[in-house]
Amino acid sequence: MLETLFHPQGTIIVTGATGLVGRAIAETLSEETAASLVLPVRGESSAQRLLESWEGEDAPLVLPMDFQQDPVSAADQLRACGITAIVHAAGCCHYTDEVELNRGNQQLTQFWLNVGRELGVQRFVYISTAFCSGSRNEVIPETLHDHDLGEDLTPYMRSKRETEHLVAASGLPYVILRPSILIGDSRTGVYNGKLYGLYQLWGAAHRWLTPEDTRAVGAVLSNMGSLPILHLDMFLHVFLGALRHLPDNTVMHIVSPDADVLSVSDFAELWGRSAVVSPLPGKQRSAESRFRMWAKHSRVNLEISQRRWQFEHGWLDRLAPVLEVQPYVSSDTLLTCQDWFRRQCLQQKVSEEQAVEITGTSSV
Ligand SMILES: NC(=O)c1ccc[n+]([C@@H]2O[C@H](COP(=O)([O-])OP(=O)(O)OC[C@H]3O[C@@H](n4cnc5c(N)ncnc54)[C@H](OP(=O)(O)O)[C@@H]3O)[C@@H](O)[C@H]2O)c1
Repeated sequence: MLETLFHPQGTIIVTGATGLVGRAIAETLSEETAASLVLPVRGESSAQRLLESWEGEDAPLVLPMDFQQDPVSAADQLRACGITAIVHAAGCCHYTDEVELNRGNQQLTQFWLNVGRELGVQRFVYISTAFCSGSRNEVIPETLHDHDLGEDLTPYMRSKRETEHLVAASGLPYVILRPSILIGDSRTGVYNGKLYGLYQLWGAAHRWLTPEDTRAVGAVLSNMGSLPILHLDMFLHVFLGALRHLPDNTVMHIVSPDADVLSVSDFAELWGRSAVVSPLPGKQRSAESRFRMWAKHSRVNLEISQRRWQFEHGWLDRLAPVLEVQPYVSSDTLLTCQDWFRRQCLQQKVSEEQAVEITGTSSV
């Protein structure tokens, strides 16, 4: 049996709780552990929205904060809470905007590392990404990557890699978790995030592809690689295990085993199989033009899927005995997510704005 090396108790800071990952982590900690939570956010209105929609067990302390302030004063503000750990899930996922990437990843993380040092936290958990390795042909190791790796498909990958180095150099006891592309809940399909990753492909397919186009996409792209995806609920199970059992100064990939990644032809086949059929998108355009629009709007994730991603998952294997579930993705669970998303699109819960946004966000 694996030893418990960190007991989630006292008060834990979770950053990024207005986003997909931070919020899911915060609600899970509130339901599954004895810890109280402090959720720092930018702005009063974000704080209000978060509290109103909170689904966790006990109400957290949601704290509007200025992340440009002196970390010493920020630590003073938090000291009385008895902070034991920081789970840093805030981050910028844009793939082209280097200024925002630097602000939302390197600078913001440095701020929280400084706060953590002031408070003497026992554990600093950083939510990185499996793709911070850049594009590599070999098995990607669970270690820090060199700064200059050759090919980064997006500046996002470099920004996350640089941020990991800041965490490792901080002197704090750290755990770096690297999830692959997160998708909705495996049982319900619910996904409250932005149109990152697979949702970029699905959003663009909803908008541009007819069923015939989808079949053509499958045939044309049948030799392409795959997208490493992972259900959010499965990520959360692994997160809890990692929080409790990983030794200090560890880097862990949270990925589905290699065989379960989604190829572009699987994607096309599954899209054609869904019971939820979209109305004809981009109606007046020619088939060639519709296909071009889909490829343009799916560009980053199509590029990602052209590579063969192989992630070392030694820590996942070691944690297996204490995990409630293994992070497998099947065509059934994927179909559940896809149908849920298509229903949202049909009910116009995915706005035109979000659909446009998909061209500017990363594959995470
Ligand atoms: N989603 C995935 O599939 C996935 C997969 C692997 C890794 N990750 C990593 O997980 C982290 C969170 O991703 P997500 O999907 O939850 O993203 P998200 O939904 O876009 O949420 C991002 C969060 O970070 C905060 N944030 C961003 N820039 C900030 C800044 N400059 N100052 C203060 N707060 C800032 C946002 O606050 P506001 O609401 O105020 O903007 C929000 O709370 C990222 O670091 C990403 O690299 C995500």
